[in-house]
Amino acid sequence: MLREMADVSVWPEPDVPPPYEVIVQAARESEGLLCLLTDRIDVGLMDAAAGRLRVVSNCAVGYDNIDVPAATARGIMVCNTPGVLTETTADLAWSLIMSAGRRIVEGDRYLRAGKWKSWSPQLMLGQDIHAATLGIIGFGRIGQAVARRARGFGMEVLYSDPVRQVEPEKSVGALFVALPDLLRRSDFVSIHAPLTPETRHMIGEKELALMKPTAVLVNTARGPMVDEGALAEALRKKRIFAAGLDVFEAEPLPQDSPLLNLENVVLLPHIGSASVATRTRMARMAAENLVAGLSGQRPPYLVNEEVLAL
Ligand code: GLV
Repeated sequence: MLREMADVSVWPEPDVPPPYEVIVQAARESEGLLCLLTDRIDVGLMDAAAGRLRVVSNCAVGYDNIDVPAATARGIMVCNTPGVLTETTADLAWSLIMSAGRRIVEGDRYLRAGKWKSWSPQLMLGQDIHAATLGIIGFGRIGQAVARRARGFGMEVLYSDPVRQVEPEKSVGALFVALPDLLRRSDFVSIHAPLTPETRHMIGEKELALMKPTAVLVNTARGPMVDEGALAEALRKKRIFAAGLDVFEAEPLPQDSPLLNLENVVLLPHIGSASVATRTRMARMAAENLVAGLSGQRPPYLVNEEVLAL
């Protein structure tokens, strides 16, 4: 799709992101950039691109890797891929809810290590998911999709959000509460908010202390929303029961992370939207955004609408 309308150069390494200097050089020579969440698109890069770059199309719904105000100020359109990954990411949040709550990965490790001697009344006791209370932080597309699935498990659903979502709240039967209340009452807490200066470290020592000792924390949003050191400490001291994490403060997770030594946390390599169908749709959408922007049309998923008024 892109090659039909432009000269395209592609970073050749599938598992190693391009170094910052390589992206800067590419941006200098390009009008459009199709990037991933691992690519930092900041003021320095935009200034180095000096007026040529017109569209930055992120192949992700989250765009905290891009300095959007700086892009808007320079007339650069920023695009993302919302909607297509909602259900796939909600599925993964549920995989973590269930695997952390019922100790699935720990049980698999235990069996493979040859430790399983016998059925035992106290072996691998976890937390019930059915009829439990699920607290959702951030009641947007993904948060609501997670809530819909909770119905099948007969759960009570609470949510916190900067804005009350009256219609979705009714259709999934969720209750709007303040964050401290949600943390105190929930058996499972799942994070689905964007990373912004306001949400950075929104779950720290103080918030973890409000959670039940039997509670499970799940994060499929962005790592820096949780103070990872405080979480590791809470897990180590069994202040909470378990966690399921798909995202981390630093990615890839450093090999000396204390999380790696804990049994009561399930760790995944940021694969929330990683199904064949969804990644295909995201790639197509990112290309469509870029083609539209470069052809002088309004990209279907433009993050900074204000740029059109310039
Ligand atoms: C993945 O993390 C995304 O934001 O799409």
